[in-house]
Amino acid sequence: MDLVKFESFYYRYKGNEEYALKNINLKIEDNKFILLCGETGSGKTSLIRCMNGLIPQFYSGFYKGKVEVCGKNTTEAPIANLSTEVGIVFQNPENQLIAMNVEHEIAFGLENLGVPSKEISKRIKESASLTEIEHILDKAPFELSGGEQQRVAIASILVLEPKILILDEPTALLDPYMAKKIINLLQEIRIEKKITILISEHRLDLILPFTEQLILIKRGSIIEHGSRERVINGDNFQNLRLNIPVIYSIFNKLKKENLYRKNIPSSIPEAIKSLKL
Ligand SMILES: Nc1ncnc2c1ncn2[C@@H]1O[C@H](COP(=O)(O)OP(=O)(O)OP(=O)(O)O)[C@@H](O)[C@H]1O
Ligand SMILES: [Mg+2]
Repeated sequence: MDLVKFESFYYRYKGNEEYALKNINLKIEDNKFILLCGETGSGKTSLIRCMNGLIPQFYSGFYKGKVEVCGKNTTEAPIANLSTEVGIVFQNPENQLIAMNVEHEIAFGLENLGVPSKEISKRIKESASLTEIEHILDKAPFELSGGEQQRVAIASILVLEPKILILDEPTALLDPYMAKKIINLLQEIRIEKKITILISEHRLDLILPFTEQLILIKRGSIIEHGSRERVINGDNFQNLRLNIPVIYSIFNKLKKENLYRKNIPSSIPEAIKSLKL
């Protein structure tokens, strides 16, 4: 079964004339690392808001078409219900952290779901260990650095054991070192939990090496969805105004000059491998 399925879905925010999402047909599969790419204002956050019912249940507006999450229609299923299937970490984790300390923060969702306390302790331990926040469990969220807050936000979603973890520009407020750590953490989560991770991220140099599929969105429409190899070697990717990695620019130029004929690599090790073959 597809985890998320959009069928001819359109959405316009109340008060706006332009549709933020236009004729979206999209299937998100199990156990994939997916990168959502598009210029600013193209509809990435809006698309993500559809995946746990925030659109259309929380954001009022006009929609047509259908979105299903694990077979549940997002216009009908309660958001709380959908949130156990799809966990979303938004750009500014500060707004998402509400409890007195980190441990309570992580326990919050599970307590709401009525999970027994022994199971809660077990899951907190596991997700705190995976996100490396065991040492800050008794701190208040506002005492933490941006990178720590982002880890706590991820941990508090992971304990709910969602089938998809979605992150909307999780490194936007972090320095390059912390950004790299968060992206490496996502790769570890992917390997350990075998869940789908969907991420909207501008730092393509960091994220592309881990990406299996890319979704390109432009002015509210999905213009391409496919394997990384196919998408980054196509014209759509090249024509979007994205933060293109240096390695991509070099190999793209070499290809245009007929000095390189294979697929454009997405990391230095891949480039070396490709040149050796
Ligand atoms: N809450 C809202 N109310 C009204 N219009 C909105 C709202 N949120 C987004 N929009 C509009 O919807 C369109 C798509 O915005 P969205 O935030 O989904 O883009 P984005 O790709 O996430 O951009 P960014 O890269 O800047 O985060 C924009 O025209 C934006 O102005
Ligand atoms: Mg956004």
